[in-house]
Amino acid sequence: MGSVLLLIGGILDNPPDILLFLGRFHPVVVHLPIGFLIMAFLIQLASRWRKFNPLGVYIPLAWLMGAVSAVVAVVFGYLLSLSGEYDKETLFWHQWAGIALTLLSFACYFVHKQWNNSPSIIKWIIGLMGCFLLMLTGHLGGNLTHGSNYLLQYAPNSFRNMAGLPSKMEPRKKVAVLDSADVFLDLVMPMMQSKCVGCHNEGKRKGELLLNTYENMMLGGKSDNTIVPGDALKSELVRRITLPMEHEDFMPSEGKLPLTDQEVVLIKWWIKSGAPSKGFVTQLDTENTIGPIVSNYLGLDKNNLFNKRVSPPNQGVVDTLISHGFVINPLMKDNYFLEANFSLSEADLKASDLDALLELREQLVWLNLGNSNLEDSYLEKIGSLQNLVKLDLSGNAITDTGIKHLSKLENLESLNLYGTNVSKGVLELVPKLSRLKKIYLWQTQVTKTDITQLKKENPGLIIIAQRE
Ligand code: HEC
Repeated sequence: MGSVLLLIGGILDNPPDILLFLGRFHPVVVHLPIGFLIMAFLIQLASRWRKFNPLGVYIPLAWLMGAVSAVVAVVFGYLLSLSGEYDKETLFWHQWAGIALTLLSFACYFVHKQWNNSPSIIKWIIGLMGCFLLMLTGHLGGNLTHGSNYLLQYAPNSFRNMAGLPSKMEPRKKVAVLDSADVFLDLVMPMMQSKCVGCHNEGKRKGELLLNTYENMMLGGKSDNTIVPGDALKSELVRRITLPMEHEDFMPSEGKLPLTDQEVVLIKWWIKSGAPSKGFVTQLDTENTIGPIVSNYLGLDKNNLFNKRVSPPNQGVVDTLISHGFVINPLMKDNYFLEANFSLSEADLKASDLDALLELREQLVWLNLGNSNLEDSYLEKIGSLQNLVKLDLSGNAITDTGIKHLSKLENLESLNLYGTNVSKGVLELVPKLSRLKKIYLWQTQVTKTDITQLKKENPGLIIIAQRE
């Protein structure tokens, strides 16, 4: 006897797949007793009218069918609960309400069948109790799968308040300027909502962790270091989101859309800053390291350059440059932005050509000076072409001394330094180019270690470098 109990205990602690599989049929099976029991009650009600009086003979049968199918639903429900994925307290009430309903259905059957002479007041009282239990069980079951806020999520606030729920949250306004971005409400919470709450909510509680509110996040999950304010590296949550994706502890699990590199950096920074429940990014970011990433993440750094009207270029200057080997093209039909390309020319670039380029500084947004025998000294003038968005300096013998001059190019989004002699200097230049999205560093003196550092410090940046 003892060993049988032990065996059963073992099976229930570690249920085989087949039981869990059967358990998944609970939501299907459960509709049978619901149907039968409602039918039983309706027949009972209808048979009070003379016209439907003959139906009365089916009342016991209907209650019996309801009761028997309820037993089946209870068994399947129990198997489903073995997965341990459900909120324990709601589960407890749902389970016992279901069992009580089953017993009550049998009682109804006996009252109608065996003790048919019992006063009809008893028949009505237990019938109504059955209806009440049916609704209660169903409601608790719904809460288990969808979370307790499901039913009233979209209800009018007056209903919600009656049920003891807070009024619906106003959706947060889209952040328009960095100064109004809140670290938790605008960064952390939306990430959790879109990528984590699906499995970590009142109904599911995977890993005993809820990520649906600040308070719940701070309560943590089954480990006691889910979030360690001030110490990102000690936080289990950070460990989970930074593991290799194929690791079994990686979050989000089951191949759900992972956090982006930028999101990971932002979460780490939030925890490092003490994991506050609110606070402006700009106030927390005393060293001004995270601001540009936040701007980029929230799409606040859209370049307004192209919304500006620029004046027509000096045609004489354009013609001179073309005669010296430049290809010059307009970029847009209804504005005077220009693209200039010298990379196809056989000739070397002359210092005087740079002066001509300077006269086009308002219009020039793309400049290709690849393989033009540029020298470091030329870069000072190039560095004052303030509207440049794309700059290609590849294949020139320029070095860190030269690229220092590029630090004021605040519109620059793409910089090509492929095949130049630059090295560590890029580490200093890149943080100054706030709009830079892409940098080409293939075949330069920039080492793998430098690239790693660059990646770490500028997580949004696309770096095209030596193959690993
Ligand atoms: C597809 C479902 C799913 C999604 C989505 C998901 N998780 Fe989980 N999570 C789980 C399961 C299941 C566990 C428990 C098993 C385990 O510990 O690996 C868990 C456990 C955890 C734990 C461990 C709890 C503790 O305190 O030890 C953390 C932390 C966690 N998840 C964070 C996250 C974060 C952050 C996200 C969003 C990026 C996320 N999860 C998205 C299913 C999910």
